[in-house]
Amino acid sequence: MTKDESFRRSNLPRISDIGFGIEPPVPNPDPPLVGPTVALRPFRPDDFAAASIVDPDPASAVWVPPMPGDDGASVAEYYEACRRDGDLLHLVAADRSSDRYLGEVMLAIGEHRVGEVGCVIRPDERGHGTAVEALGLLADWALGPLGLPRLQVFVAVQNLGGLRLSERIGFRHEGVLRSYGEHDGRRFDAFVLSRLPTDPART
Ligand SMILES: CC(C)(COP(=O)(O)OP(=O)(O)OC[C@H]1O[C@@H](n2cnc3c(N)ncnc32)[C@H](O)[C@@H]1OP(=O)(O)O)[C@@H](O)C(=O)NCCC(=O)NCCS
Repeated sequence: MTKDESFRRSNLPRISDIGFGIEPPVPNPDPPLVGPTVALRPFRPDDFAAASIVDPDPASAVWVPPMPGDDGASVAEYYEACRRDGDLLHLVAADRSSDRYLGEVMLAIGEHRVGEVGCVIRPDERGHGTAVEALGLLADWALGPLGLPRLQVFVAVQNLGGLRLSERIGFRHEGVLRSYGEHDGRRFDAFVLSRLPTDPART
């Protein structure tokens, strides 16, 4: 068991165990989610090398947790275990034509079936609309076929890219959470934004 698995399997009650989340597992989207240039699919062991470029990126390190394993097989198994447990759907955003790894999108499901989304794109693949397409596909599915009543996202106030991304896919500002996160020993504030099934999908 890796240190991440032992943390995840600690004695704390899980949201799905205490009946406030969704009935596990989180289903994989069926049919798979595909946009004009991006397709979403589960993480595969052979994504490990391409995904490894994300962790050392300073912009990603502030907000995206490091990969939960030391090799592709353990990372893929970790995400699959989270999905089975009803806690998290973690998908690769792949190039629709070549299947090349571009980044990742995440949907964590918490109390009262509230979903929290996140996204990271490889530094050398940014600036082409990939995040808007990939996270937009996941958000539309989570509020539509999956049936979640609310999605939310927390974005560090200095993260202009993350903020603009969230606004572009229909999230609305709700406020600023003071001293919400910590990086390199310094606390930072975060915007909280949300989208409901009745909100327009795009701005
Ligand atoms: C934020 C991130 C996912 C954006 O990925 P991307 O594929 O480059 O984003 P897109 O090309 O789809 O652009 C999304 C919007 O954000 C804007 N944007 C992207 N990076 C930006 C930046 N650094 N500063 C200001 N705006 C930015 C784009 O211009 C676009 O808005 P527009 O359509 O009005 O022009 C990427 O920079 C990243 O992985 N960052 C590190 C992890 C992170 O911060 N994740 C967000 C937490 S939710």
